[in-house]
Amino acid sequence: MVNKYPIILAIESSCDDTSAAIIHDRYLLANFTATQDVHEKYGGVVPELASRAHQANIIPVVHLALEYAKLKPHQIDAIAFTRGPGLLGSLMVGSSFAKGFALALNKPLISVNHLNGHILSHFIIEDKSKAIEPKFPFLCLLVSGGHSQIVLVKDFLEYEILGETIDDAAGEAFDKCAKVMGLPYPGGKEIDMLAKSGNSKSFKFGLPRIDGYNYSFSGLKTSFLYKIRDNLKINHNFIEDNKADLAASLQKAIIDILIDKLKMAVKDTGITTIALSGGVSANDGLRTRMQNLSNQYNWKVYLPEKKFTTDNAAMIAIAGLYKFKKSLFSKQDITPLARMNLLDI
Ligand code: KG4
Ligand code: ZN
Repeated sequence: MVNKYPIILAIESSCDDTSAAIIHDRYLLANFTATQDVHEKYGGVVPELASRAHQANIIPVVHLALEYAKLKPHQIDAIAFTRGPGLLGSLMVGSSFAKGFALALNKPLISVNHLNGHILSHFIIEDKSKAIEPKFPFLCLLVSGGHSQIVLVKDFLEYEILGETIDDAAGEAFDKCAKVMGLPYPGGKEIDMLAKSGNSKSFKFGLPRIDGYNYSFSGLKTSFLYKIRDNLKINHNFIEDNKADLAASLQKAIIDILIDKLKMAVKDTGITTIALSGGVSANDGLRTRMQNLSNQYNWKVYLPEKKFTTDNAAMIAIAGLYKFKKSLFSKQDITPLARMNLLDI
């Protein structure tokens, strides 16, 4: 018989954030993340440096989480960790720690698919009075640095991918275009901030023509690059002079692409409960557009709290909880995977 209301410690280390969280059933007791600024000067995540920083950060974040939750290690019922997808060296640090901790405490080990965590972040409860969650089945627009997918979520661990990107992810499009503008990495947040004071109608970029619910962002990135290159020939200060308008126009184009396919999926499936997940769901332009669509079409829209949009261990803990409830435990010989499909639970 498994404990119905387990206490789960979760570790997330798939990219450049080292995070530890503890939940008691769905209630979040602690969630601490150490971000790595060592990558800033390189304009992107350097895998080797990320692994080393995870090594340095993992014990302190777990320690903090346990202290904050006022728990001793033996009170934990299971250890969950991100198996993938992500940077292999980074995943190795988190998975090795989780395995060692589980072995030492003689507690079950639960491997979690990072994407599963992003989707289930909507089920984390921080404050009981504010607990609202999407009802199944719902559509999830999963938009992160590595993924852009429209997922039909039938149950906690039951998904169907309706569409996904055939090249860059939405977050990648934000980051790569931001880099062209000379903005710091990761550029999504920077574009979001600049866009607030810009005119989104200032510039037009080439939009993709892809069948079905799939996405493509590489054409937009090229169109953005050419627009900047051509204009720099005329005005050396083109980027500086048009920063906010470029950001607002780019952001609008990315949102238009995302929403166009989402609308199609809503129309064809008849499902009007929609949840947004992943780092890009922190984008205020996208959040506002979703609210407007909700008012216009009577969609039930669920936006995650901002702290649960980008990578965090709380979402790994909640995904671990639903695997725990089904006794889906892992053995000690489990290995992390750089590539993982959402359906690999
Ligand atoms: O989910 P996440 O933290 O990591 C992955 O699983 O990939 O997503 C990171 C992505 C980055 O591309 C970052 O630029 C983007 O999320 N992002 C944003 C915003 N905040 C983070 N994109 C647009 N607007 C934001 N406010
Ligand atoms: Zn993520």
